[in-house]
Amino acid sequence: MGGERQRVWVSRPLFDDIVDRLREYFDVEAETAEHGWTAAQIGAKLRDRDGALLGVGDPVDAAAVAGAPRLRAIANTAVGYNNLDIDALTAAGVIATNTPDVLNEAVADFAWALMLSAARRVSEAERYLRAGRWQGMSYRLLLGSDVHARTLGILGMGRIGQAIARRAAGFRMPVIYHNRTRLDAAVERDCNARYVGRDELLAQADFLVLVLPLTPQNRHVIGTRELAAMRPGSILVNVSRGGIVDDVALAAALAAGRIAGAALDVFENEPALAPALLSLDNVVMTPHIASGSVETRRAMTALAVDNLIAALGHGPQAGHPPNVVNPDGLSQREQ
Ligand code: DGY
Repeated sequence: MGGERQRVWVSRPLFDDIVDRLREYFDVEAETAEHGWTAAQIGAKLRDRDGALLGVGDPVDAAAVAGAPRLRAIANTAVGYNNLDIDALTAAGVIATNTPDVLNEAVADFAWALMLSAARRVSEAERYLRAGRWQGMSYRLLLGSDVHARTLGILGMGRIGQAIARRAAGFRMPVIYHNRTRLDAAVERDCNARYVGRDELLAQADFLVLVLPLTPQNRHVIGTRELAAMRPGSILVNVSRGGIVDDVALAAALAAGRIAGAALDVFENEPALAPALLSLDNVVMTPHIASGSVETRRAMTALAVDNLIAALGHGPQAGHPPNVVNPDGLSQREQ
């Protein structure tokens, strides 16, 4: 193909052998170190680029889109895309893509890791050991709560929520869920899950797992009122997005013993943490790694690369990227 090659930016170190596929089609600048990019810095990087492969921590705002006349595609290496101003991208005819499905099972595994850690106080117990505080076997040391046969509640029953629910059979746990739309009966049967109203979910779940996208409607879906409505002694798990939970209200509920514990992979202002959370022992915290298995992060990278190549008009799916989140961006471009 003659003419100038399209220019693409990769905002974070990923897997070189996968990212290198972009070089077949594009001039690629791929970052080799992590940066906490600001929206303005990203705007500067996009200014003379045709496409970019970004991560969930990389904000693209309307100003960045306005300042990037060549931009045609943003491939997010994540299922969530709340870092992108989708309206601005769509209006400018820029395709945005995500990486759904390939991470469902890994995130479900991790939700269970968090649930079990919080219930059985695994992180707290390790801190205790490492601090040299263990004096010997004691029957009342670091007592947790059972997981098996307790009620699992899931708020947000998309494909990740369903994968979490399916794992509950091995623990003989009844599963209840709430979702914007009720699942088909066949899917409910497969997940062994019962649909309930949101208030019933809060009141009945011993473990409440949040698997919601962050949208303006979902901001602080769990705040002071909801925490007060949760079953006493219950445990809250968030593997979806910070901002779904009011972290300050959660810290207050945990400090007051209103609920027994929490396990959080995501935070409202990450990577900054609410200081009140840091001082609590009954919260397990991990740095946004729920999809972080080698296999899954490689699969996410490969899908994002496929999306970008196709969105910029190359490869076997040229013009038809598999995971467009703003189909209107495509039609806008075709006008
Ligand atoms: C996602 O995919 O949205 C995760 O939060 C990043 O792995």
